[in-house]
Amino acid sequence: MKQFYITTAIDYANGMPHLGHAYEKVLADVISRVRRMRGESVHFLTGLDEHGQKVQQSAERKGIEPLVFCDTMADAFKALCVKLEVSNDDYIRTTEVRHKTVVEKILQDLYDQGVIYKAKYKGFYSARAEQFLQEKDKVEGAWPEIYGEVTEISEENYFFKLSEHQDWLIDYIKTHEDFIFPKFRAKQVLEFLKEPLNDLCISRPKERLNWGIELPFDVNYVTYVWFDALINYISAVGYGSERFENCWPVDYHVIGKDILVPAHAIYWPIMLKAIGVEMPKSFVVHGWWLAAGAKMSKSTGNTVEPLDLVDTFGADAFRYFLMREMNVGQDSDFSQELFDVRYNVLANDLGNLVSRLLNMGHRYCEGTVPAMHVEEGPEKELKALWDATGPKVLELYDGLQFHTALEDIFKFIAGVNRYAEVRAPWKLAKSESAEDRKLLETSLAVMAEGLRLASVLLAPVIPSTSRRIEVLLGLPEVMAFEGQLDWSDCLKGNTLGEKVILFPRPELAKA
Ligand code: MSP
Repeated sequence: MKQFYITTAIDYANGMPHLGHAYEKVLADVISRVRRMRGESVHFLTGLDEHGQKVQQSAERKGIEPLVFCDTMADAFKALCVKLEVSNDDYIRTTEVRHKTVVEKILQDLYDQGVIYKAKYKGFYSARAEQFLQEKDKVEGAWPEIYGEVTEISEENYFFKLSEHQDWLIDYIKTHEDFIFPKFRAKQVLEFLKEPLNDLCISRPKERLNWGIELPFDVNYVTYVWFDALINYISAVGYGSERFENCWPVDYHVIGKDILVPAHAIYWPIMLKAIGVEMPKSFVVHGWWLAAGAKMSKSTGNTVEPLDLVDTFGADAFRYFLMREMNVGQDSDFSQELFDVRYNVLANDLGNLVSRLLNMGHRYCEGTVPAMHVEEGPEKELKALWDATGPKVLELYDGLQFHTALEDIFKFIAGVNRYAEVRAPWKLAKSESAEDRKLLETSLAVMAEGLRLASVLLAPVIPSTSRRIEVLLGLPEVMAFEGQLDWSDCLKGNTLGEKVILFPRPELAKA
């Protein structure tokens, strides 16, 4: 059976992991977990982009071999995945043999087909962007800052024919609405495709760069890093083997908006077309995390280092913030203040519900979930809120609207807390009447059930906390949505766990 196959971009090995990398992995992880809970078999790939000039230069600066440098970076990036509880099934490094052999095979095939040819190139080159430039790339007569120093060069190189597929690609994008998410990004690609495509230079002479995959048909050159990197998506799943058939076409390539055009939306589809491989089903293109309006790539001076928040507040709080704050596709601001606002909601709404329930469960019902005896207005109202919430959240998850889904789940949690206020079990406990006792038991059972349901929906975003809540409610591990999202009294008779603080105040969290 075909697996649900999802990838992230592979990160450049030349710098340490930052918030942008973390977000993309968490986003892909949440999508993967939703699919797994929907009963699908998932293959989730992430990895490291290790070749190219920038990596070579970073290693040189440290006075070590590029591969030794990449080994330490791979450790750092893999550690980030572990820290964020990212459930990737595989991690690819472009220096691995399984990757290199596929890149070499594809280069040779395309060369044999005559789709790759040698020609003299005379023009401009940006070492920083590792890219050839044209006059039209200038802005107001000057090279934009992102290109760094631009030099004029003249050299022989190998080129991959792009232009002959231009019309096909335009047509493909126009006729496949789901190819690029969100849809407005497809318009940008089509805009780019209005200009004639130049063939892509896929080689770099070794005298300029030797840290790359050697061209199988010319030992004097290595492969251009983007041509090498894109192939990770198929080399990692055994391109050409049966395993490949189980994964391909990829369901989601999750990437940032800066690498859609031209790499993912132009080069990659044309490369696949040229080797006769089916198109990816969809690109999920997220926006940028910004700090005071500027793209975040590393910590800026005296501002808080976002990844440190994971140590202070835990992976789940951090994951919740990322998914709640960013509307997939749009940019978002990052600041400690914004983080604190979201954290307080976790602590006050979810954390308090848990403490209240456990507290009263132990005090009034000997630590056991009681039965639901009555169903009156307040119970009916909460149930109706649940009926409107559960299916809608699943739909929002499928549509990648995680920020709204979380908003809805927390509206439901607020509903459970409101219900507790209305029933006020702490007041009922003071009464001697049998009727009030039934109401007291009902209210605790209803609160427990509300918490259980919310926790199932939250599991893809805050997996450890959901698991903790399940344990506190005396439940086995829930791995699926199916059968778990119906309002029921399945908790009746379960033993409640000891009281805990799920989201401690920052001072406590730090301690
Ligand atoms: N190595 C290439 C990708 C090759 S994929 C075949 C690359 N690496 S990167 O390290 O620069 O970026 C990795 C991912 O992180 C990209 O999808 C990029 O968009 C994302 N982010 C980097 N900074 C970001 C933010 N500030 N915000 C959100 N994501 C951004 O590009």
